[in-house]
Amino acid sequence: EEGLHPPEYPWSHSGWLDSFDHASIRRGYQVYREVCAACHSLDRIAWRNLVGVSHTVDEVKTMAEEVEYEDGPNDQGEMFQRPGKLSDYMPPPYPNEEAARASNGGALPPDLSLIVKARHGGPNYIFALLTGYRDPPAGFEIREGMNYNPYFPGNAISMARVLFDGLVEYDDGTPATTSQMAKDVVTFLNWAAEPEHDERKKAGLKAVILFSALTAISLYVKRFKWSLIK
Ligand code: HEM
Repeated sequence: EEGLHPPEYPWSHSGWLDSFDHASIRRGYQVYREVCAACHSLDRIAWRNLVGVSHTVDEVKTMAEEVEYEDGPNDQGEMFQRPGKLSDYMPPPYPNEEAARASNGGALPPDLSLIVKARHGGPNYIFALLTGYRDPPAGFEIREGMNYNPYFPGNAISMARVLFDGLVEYDDGTPATTSQMAKDVVTFLNWAAEPEHDERKKAGLKAVILFSALTAISLYVKRFKWSLIK
């Protein structure tokens, strides 16, 4: 059974010239780190990807250094632990799929790097999913450990509601309501899935300007060259 069709939300980056809201990406990273990262990996994003997007290089270095990474083998052939650096990728919450399933009642929390592209409805669906938990309608049988969510295909999802008002404390003072956190984390995940988005729109604008100028020039030249012919 299909899930309920999500509403279309007015994302600030949805216009053909609109860039991402980078303050929202920054808040969304915080939600990912403090809430989602307990269960979901973000394999395709390295610390360096955040630099100049949501954080300064010094902020990112500090965040990376707080995580221990396994490295090696060294000259003695041993593996060792070292603090993270800019080139390291986001640390996964579980060492492997078995561990991930064991901690989630058999369900696998998907990697979130490309989730905005992978799910039908994209950002609208994920926002609706995160904010759409409610009591099941009368007569809807829900298995132990499953949660009712009308937007999830089948309407029973093993992920429980995770966002509640005031769960995180934003450093820019934005009130962390459930819908604010959902918007921010979806904006962050949308950036993660399309890091070239802003550059692409800028290049598109340049192309439109360039081709308009070339068209104008060629029209002018054509009229000029043909002006003697009656
Ligand atoms: C599934 C997002 C936090 C456990 C999912 C899906 C998304 C998502 C988009 C895929 C739904 C689909 O297949 O259509 C998020 C976000 C989070 C978050 C943005 C933070 C705000 C968590 C946490 C846990 C968790 C904290 C564990 C306690 C799971 C599991 C599934 C899942 C087990 C698989 C559900 C199923 O297939 O039935 N999540 N999640 N998630 N999530 Fe999360």
